[in-house]
Amino acid sequence: MINELYKGMLGGKSIIRELSEYATARGKEIGYENVFDYTLGNPSVPCAPEFTEELISMLQTENPVAIHGYSPSLGIESVRTAVAESLNKRFGMNYETKHIFMTSGAAGAIAHAVRCVSKPGDEILTFAPFFPEYHPYIDLTGAVLKVVPANTENFQINVEAFEEMLTDKVAAVLVNTPNNPSGIALTTETVKKMADIMRKKQEEYGHDIFLISDEPYREIVFKGADAPYVTKYYDNSISCYSFSKSLSLPGERIGYIAVNPKCTDADIIAVMCGQISRGTGHNCPASSIQLAVAKVLDKTSDLSVYETNMNLIYDELKKIGFTVVKPGGTFYIFPKALEEDANAFCMKAKKYDLILVPGDNFGCPGYFRMAYCIDTEKVLRSFPVLEKFVKEEYGLEF
Ligand SMILES: Cc1ncc(COP(=O)(O)O)c(C=O)c1O
Repeated sequence: MINELYKGMLGGKSIIRELSEYATARGKEIGYENVFDYTLGNPSVPCAPEFTEELISMLQTENPVAIHGYSPSLGIESVRTAVAESLNKRFGMNYETKHIFMTSGAAGAIAHAVRCVSKPGDEILTFAPFFPEYHPYIDLTGAVLKVVPANTENFQINVEAFEEMLTDKVAAVLVNTPNNPSGIALTTETVKKMADIMRKKQEEYGHDIFLISDEPYREIVFKGADAPYVTKYYDNSISCYSFSKSLSLPGERIGYIAVNPKCTDADIIAVMCGQISRGTGHNCPASSIQLAVAKVLDKTSDLSVYETNMNLIYDELKKIGFTVVKPGGTFYIFPKALEEDANAFCMKAKKYDLILVPGDNFGCPGYFRMAYCIDTEKVLRSFPVLEKFVKEEYGLEF
């Protein structure tokens, strides 16, 4: 008999994927250059050239048996050491090799971190708006995802609601900054506030409350944004990183967990991840990709196009009259829709081949997401279409 749980999940397909598939299909009809596809967070710039050079050189000169051999279950030791050293240098931390576990992107990192610090039935708190894949990452561990409502004024956290929802049942808080979908970076002040509340509650309840920091956009931070290294502010913390966006390597499935050395059981969490891996079949990212990435830890792709696009789109949205908070990073922006029902708003936009994603799935109805990891030329060509859409559908004049 097939498993009813997974069968049941078939009905809950990702709206982002569905809209993206629609955009691709529509592109086949009218030419993809005529579809203004703001759906997917797939990087639009090539990976850092240094990564390609390292990979090619390694494949040509190193021993193929070693390069393509099994990786140890926690990741290749020299790679883990290099990650620890890079983080220590950049963020003033004290990671050692034993605190690092290599993963298949941030997805693999979060799935392991949640399993390490919670048991079925425990609650994991996150903040709206949030990445909808948190549901499968967490639901399938048996823990329960609870969502703190958004602070739509500035998309920092809703402190009062957070404090109220941080009950004795909460094993961990999952935070994502800079954030998908809002693009907002939590400020140092917000991170400190969040950490203070968590420390107070740990003391009150007499048990650990872990902070899982989801950081795939850590390197995509715009001028002037205050985007601190979150785990510096809270001891019981686990950082979940990915090279998908910073190095434009989403298909290579590479990232890591970095366990705060001051965390409870810091010395065994990575080892526990290795055991979790055995059961889930995760079994480490490819050895060759681990080795190549280790050589370019402090490099990124040329990420400048994202800030260029963000500034253009933000100015255009403001000109038209949208309510929108200026992103501090990522390649997303999250404006308020022009009617209460963001689904209806996005369906109307679709008629103009403007493909936008409604905010409902991100836990924030009434808003919509634009992923602007696309060419600037296309961003600019989308503006007259956007203007036509809002004039015809909502009678806006500007
Ligand atoms: C907020 C957030 N977390 C996690 C992930 C998963 O990242 P990865 O593809 O590296 O597994 C993504 C991917 O888009 C994301 O936006």
